[in-house]
Amino acid sequence: GLGDQGRLDSYTQMFGVFGDPVRHSRSPVMMNRAFQATGVNGAYAAFHVKPAELKQAVEGIRALGFRGVNVTIPHKVEVMNYLDEIDEGARFIGAVNTIVNENGMLTGYNTDGIGYVRSLKEETGITLKGSRIVIIGAGGAAKGVAYALAKESPERIVIVNRTEEKARELADNLSALVDAEGMGLAALENSKESCTLVVNTTSVGMFPDIGELPAPTSWLKPGMTVSDLIYNPLETRWLKEAAEAGCVTHGGLGMFIYQGAFAFEYWTGIEAPAAVMRETVLASLL
Ligand code: ATR
Repeated sequence: GLGDQGRLDSYTQMFGVFGDPVRHSRSPVMMNRAFQATGVNGAYAAFHVKPAELKQAVEGIRALGFRGVNVTIPHKVEVMNYLDEIDEGARFIGAVNTIVNENGMLTGYNTDGIGYVRSLKEETGITLKGSRIVIIGAGGAAKGVAYALAKESPERIVIVNRTEEKARELADNLSALVDAEGMGLAALENSKESCTLVVNTTSVGMFPDIGELPAPTSWLKPGMTVSDLIYNPLETRWLKEAAEAGCVTHGGLGMFIYQGAFAFEYWTGIEAPAAVMRETVLASLL
């Protein structure tokens, strides 16, 4: 039996996010609102876990019977060492952001990339099958997004990055799934003609450096979909200039909402109340 809705009692299922730092996290307000909206007797808190305590913190999930935990910076890679199973996508990406506790058996997932793709589809209506995609950046965020996009059967994915070697390495790993190529930022203009989607996965343009562009915008064409993982600010200069160029634009807030929506669904088996979650996070940002 569940206790009364919206009340903490002896049946309440426990959840949280492990990070360092963690006090800036919007996950607790978002997830607690989602529990409330769906009548799940759950509670979600932020835990400041330092790297030296991560192993014990994960053991604590088992000991205390937490149902699920999100993992954020800087623990997404290290935490993989302490879990019982790693989902295929998380293994490819090399990072875990969601842990599900099934009677003491901990499985790690990565919902960042699939959250991104769900947000992109819901918010722009884009058709990814047969699309030609440019991903700017080749770090952790790029890996998740690239893997999830590759699963949508695009025709081709080009990765461009300041450090060309990292772009090539990610493209090599992706090539098992899709036609992929890695190149330096300077080569970007040569691959522009038929691209349908461009995604910025770098931190360039994030607050407080809001004047910076991850790539020149001169080659953007009307009708292209231009996306940015950054959600502070909600609309980056990159997206503003893309909108002026007649592109369909997509900001980073949805990725955060839907990575949480997938985690919520893995833990509860209930469809996440995405609209309510978005409203709550937006209100907390303003
Ligand atoms: P994240 O987990 O957010 O992806 P990351 O793994 O550190 O963070 O990756 C950061 C990405 O942003 C990288 O692609 C990085 O380029 P390099 O591989 O050349 O370092 C890119 N990046 C960060 N600052 C940048 C800048 N000022 N100009 C261009 N690219 C930048």
